[in-house]
Amino acid sequence: MEQTVASPHVLLFPFPGQGNMNSMLNLAEFLCNAGLHITFLNSNHNQQRLLRFTNAQERFSRWPKFRFQTIPDGLPADHPRSAATFFEILDSMKATAKPLFREMMIMASRKESGLWPPLSCFIIDGLMPFAIDVAEELSIRVIVYRAISACCLWTFFCLPGLFAAAELPFQGGDVEDDMDVTIKNVPGMQGFLRRRDLPSFFQTKDPTDPIFQQIGVECQKMTQAYGLIINTFEDLESPVLTQFRSQVPNLYTVGPLHALTLRRQHSSSSMTSNIAVSNSLWDEDRSCITWLDSQPPKSVVYMSFGSLVVYDKDTLMEFWHGLVNSGKLFLWVVRQDSINISGGEGTSFLAEVVDGAKERGSLVVGWAPQEEVLSHPALGVFLTHSGWNSTMEGIYAGVPMICWPFFADQQINSRFVSEVWKVGVALDKCDRWTIERVVKDVMEQKREVLVESIDGLAKLARRCISEGGSSRSNLDRLIQDLRSVRESVYDTSTSTLVG
Ligand code: UDX
Repeated sequence: MEQTVASPHVLLFPFPGQGNMNSMLNLAEFLCNAGLHITFLNSNHNQQRLLRFTNAQERFSRWPKFRFQTIPDGLPADHPRSAATFFEILDSMKATAKPLFREMMIMASRKESGLWPPLSCFIIDGLMPFAIDVAEELSIRVIVYRAISACCLWTFFCLPGLFAAAELPFQGGDVEDDMDVTIKNVPGMQGFLRRRDLPSFFQTKDPTDPIFQQIGVECQKMTQAYGLIINTFEDLESPVLTQFRSQVPNLYTVGPLHALTLRRQHSSSSMTSNIAVSNSLWDEDRSCITWLDSQPPKSVVYMSFGSLVVYDKDTLMEFWHGLVNSGKLFLWVVRQDSINISGGEGTSFLAEVVDGAKERGSLVVGWAPQEEVLSHPALGVFLTHSGWNSTMEGIYAGVPMICWPFFADQQINSRFVSEVWKVGVALDKCDRWTIERVVKDVMEQKREVLVESIDGLAKLARRCISEGGSSRSNLDRLIQDLRSVRESVYDTSTSTLVG
């Protein structure tokens, strides 16, 4: 048997959402820099958009050991792929991508040519347990990746306890009126966690809701995998991470990933610093940076609800009046597909909002280079949906937040921002008066205290990603662990991994 030592070749497979793909691409860059072979598996839909709106292909061409591959998500081209259809995306991936993924991986684990050794490890988004099953079937080491906060993931592990203690499903006559009831059975979060802060999926009265089964499977996969990568940092979620390690001992906390990538861009002389880092699935409107350049320091409210949130005209109007009445300048991201108004009315309504903002010296864009916006000196506050990437980006940039969570982990992220880290304020109502009051408060009276807290967290984030910091050390350990699979020997006569 002719044998060679196979070079490590890692497959990264994100769930096809902007935040999931974005942060995993940042991780991929880091792994490429460590000299690993990387196959990045994107949905066809996302790959087309990524190539259309960014220079990702050019950026990654710097690493000959990196390649993109694609897989269909099974949805029609005009499918909204929004928060409201989140479970359709999950189901479609399972139905369409699973068999194809299995076939692709069987081929790839047997037969690779030229530069490409067989796959030695999978890093798979934990939202897709089916892909983890395939790794297990092929006896390939699998590390799970999660793009959400540890505090949210921890509540997933606490589900059995919440049911056993009858805290779930919610009891009581009018659950809507009782959302402030505190939750006692999430260890480490007693005293501040309320019903309304639990992940949106928990907020159902139906104990047989299939979501509970899906979460159970996700937890099982996280505990069975070789390890779990989370885009967070030790100093941010330390008490939760301690609890978490009782379930998943091999945790790689490697965040904030976007900052690691930026940092390397600035520190490496071999990099061409003029290549912008963008992993956007929408066309970034860079005119907002020129606009920000002409605004006074700390004067602008930046409002963006990420890639999936969809809201109706009434909600939009409350935000509009709240912002305008606050008298502050604002930069507002309104994705074309984010307003729930049909056809032509939506387009003309959006045009009115854009023009109205301009008349008031403010700006509405369809999609912004968010990381750059957040680090701009003109930024005063970030009005966010509390998606995890946005939360990490806001913390790293040291910009106080106003939180208006919509779904998934956003509720609990918002609670941690406002009550635990005290770096922002949660909106308790979405009406124009509350919005106006809170915007003024955060931009004026509360500003100093919030800035002090968030500056402290931003410093800790910087320390974590510096040489010797916890995220850097965890990344080094991850790379070592990915390389250790190389100990497997590649049998060139049968093209298989042995040992
Ligand atoms: C989803 C879920 O909704 C969220 O709850 C979960 O935490 C992660 O996955 P998304 O809603 O897109 O993510 O929000 P978020 O995690 O904040 O990610 C959005 C990403 O898009 C961020 O990296 C942000 O920088 C980027 N973005 C957003 C832009 O680049 N430009 C914009 O105009 C808006």
